Amino acid sequence: MKYQSRSRGVTTSTPRTAPGLHDLLARRRSPRGFAADRPVDDETLRTLLEAARWAPSAGNSQPWRFGVARRGEPAFEALGAALAAGNQVWARKAAALLLLAAQTRDEAGRPRRWAVYDTGQAAAHLTVQAEAEGLSVHQMGGFDPAAAAEVFALPADLEPLVVLAVGWHDPEADLPEPYASRERAPRVRLPLAELVLAPADDVLPLSA
Ligand SMILES: Cc1cc2nc3c(=O)[nH]c(=O)nc-3n(C[C@H](O)[C@H](O)[C@H](O)COP(=O)(O)O)c2cc1C
Repeated sequence: MKYQSRSRGVTTSTPRTAPGLHDLLARRRSPRGFAADRPVDDETLRTLLEAARWAPSAGNSQPWRFGVARRGEPAFEALGAALAAGNQVWARKAAALLLLAAQTRDEAGRPRRWAVYDTGQAAAHLTVQAEAEGLSVHQMGGFDPAAAAEVFALPADLEPLVVLAVGWHDPEADLPEPYASRERAPRVRLPLAELVLAPADDVLPLSA
């Protein structure tokens, strides 16, 4: 498979993707520069959550739950303070912070084996919808789960997994190092040949 550069006229952060990849997936990235003065309106935020809502899940169990906090709200400050220091530097400028938690047990207390997998799919749906809205999402595992759970008074059966910074990307945002360099760095991925186990080259050629 031949890889082509889609970099004509765009920043160095635009990845080299295979032809045919949907543009929403090709251009999506997790930025750190957010426009601190630009809020996200209720309808758009609802659309992002709606995208997550329609993600597939094992037995249609839909084991994800969201805590939603907009900039200026007390919950935003509290969730921002629960982030790892290196994430606080930039994520507190996002328009919204969402806590994503997984219901890892069913009503009978039995483990939901795919809860974390399903919740990740909901996040993936949300990120692609955000890209379609012109918004950016940066997911973060670097936060204090207990403090984040407290912000939304999560019941014990909900396990906080990630915080999502949602906002309008500002390529001119003033970021300290090392975040400024990371913002300019190209997106990279392992080659398909490394991701597909025992690739049968004669059946599906994976490299040019
Ligand atoms: C579960 C998860 C946890 C992450 N945690 C952090 C984090 O704490 N801080 C951070 O800056 N980025 C975090 N990221 C973002 C990844 O580093 C990023 O998605 C990856 O480098 C690929 O870059 P891209 O999304 O721009 O393609 C996380 C992403 C995921 C999916």
